[in-house]
Amino acid sequence: MLKIALIGCTGSIGRQTAEIVRRYPKEFCFSALACGRDGAALGALCAEFAPKAALCAEGTFSPPAGTVRLSAGEEARLFEDCDVAFIGAGGFAGLKYTLLAAAAGKKIALANKESLVCGGALVMRAVRERGLDLVPVDSEHSALFQCLAFRREAAFERLVLTASGGPFLHLEKEALARVPAKDAPRHPTWQMGAKITIDSATLLNKGYEVIEAKWLYDAPFEKIDAVVHPESIVHSLVYFADGAAMAQLGYPDMRVPIQLALTYPERLPCAPQLDLPALGKLSFLPFPKEKFPCFSLAVAAGRAGGTLPAVLNAAAEEAVHAFLGGRITFPMIAETIQGALDAFPREEALSYEQLAETDGKARRFAARYISSHGK
Ligand SMILES: NC(=O)c1ccc[n+]([C@@H]2O[C@H](COP(=O)([O-])OP(=O)(O)OC[C@H]3O[C@@H](n4cnc5c(N)ncnc54)[C@H](OP(=O)(O)O)[C@@H]3O)[C@@H](O)[C@H]2O)c1
Repeated sequence: MLKIALIGCTGSIGRQTAEIVRRYPKEFCFSALACGRDGAALGALCAEFAPKAALCAEGTFSPPAGTVRLSAGEEARLFEDCDVAFIGAGGFAGLKYTLLAAAAGKKIALANKESLVCGGALVMRAVRERGLDLVPVDSEHSALFQCLAFRREAAFERLVLTASGGPFLHLEKEALARVPAKDAPRHPTWQMGAKITIDSATLLNKGYEVIEAKWLYDAPFEKIDAVVHPESIVHSLVYFADGAAMAQLGYPDMRVPIQLALTYPERLPCAPQLDLPALGKLSFLPFPKEKFPCFSLAVAAGRAGGTLPAVLNAAAEEAVHAFLGGRITFPMIAETIQGALDAFPREEALSYEQLAETDGKARRFAARYISSHGK
């Protein structure tokens, strides 16, 4: 029985992880659950799965008998009794949990992108020093992991990330200024939380994935490419020195990489198999960097490193929130990020506390930028 500490249990990734545990009650259980605000949903999950400990980081929550309620400052206790720390929280908030799980010496299943985007150097140092198993959950990085035969250190020539292109792929650049917030959450192929869905529309998400690939596979930026693949069937590819390429295919369904992160190298039944004749053709298009500047902003911040990816992410979290609230236009998401990156000097990223301080400052900068440049 694998004991899982699930962080972000009330979100899109968290709910799908719970589905897997529900389906395989003899294989998996939850030793701890944590969420942000939704204390009611956390309470229901605790009543169903009876974890030893639970934490509602930003809301109120009454635990059922038998579950210990943890408070802010006690996050490390979430990992005391687990075999795997599953980090499915959204945003910069995930980094703290990833570092605590690493400090506890646990295997980490990592869905939270921001951990590597903002704190890649700190996370990878902790993982290396303690010899921990860090397993990607993001579908693209799970695909690369599978193509590399589950060896993050395996040799390769090039990594190619696939992108659906998001809901605005075929719009003219000028039309992007008029897209209403209600149209962006309609992702063509994946069902996800609000922030990552907007990041998929701006293609910031693909920039994040380039940074994640750099850390996970120790890949120089020159060896990481992105290509548009609207059907989202090929989840990513690895090119090898001899010209061979390996790809991982499947219907878009996050439960597959979530479950595999728990069971690898073994596999359990999870999703329907591909019906190739029904699929017909698969298409691949050049990546539209010019139309969607967030991708290049993310890659540039990733290349610069230090505290700049945390600045990028903080500005992006504020800007996406403002876009969803109807306070800024779609192109202003990129403008806010650019404004923040121009305003902050690069510093070496030395500690979580320093990154948290940078995150706070960059958020306050972005909030001011949005109120003076917004609608
Ligand atoms: N959804 C996907 O298909 C997908 C695919 C690949 C990668 N990811 C990545 O996985 C992460 C989660 O994405 P999502 O789509 O599941 O987001 P989501 O639906 O918005 O869920 C976010 C989760 O994080 C929790 N949370 C927020 N602040 C927290 C805190 N301080 N402590 C503990 N938990 C906190 C939320 O709790 P409350 O709801 O209770 O506030 C919620 O459970 C993101 O980094 C995303 O980029 C997602």
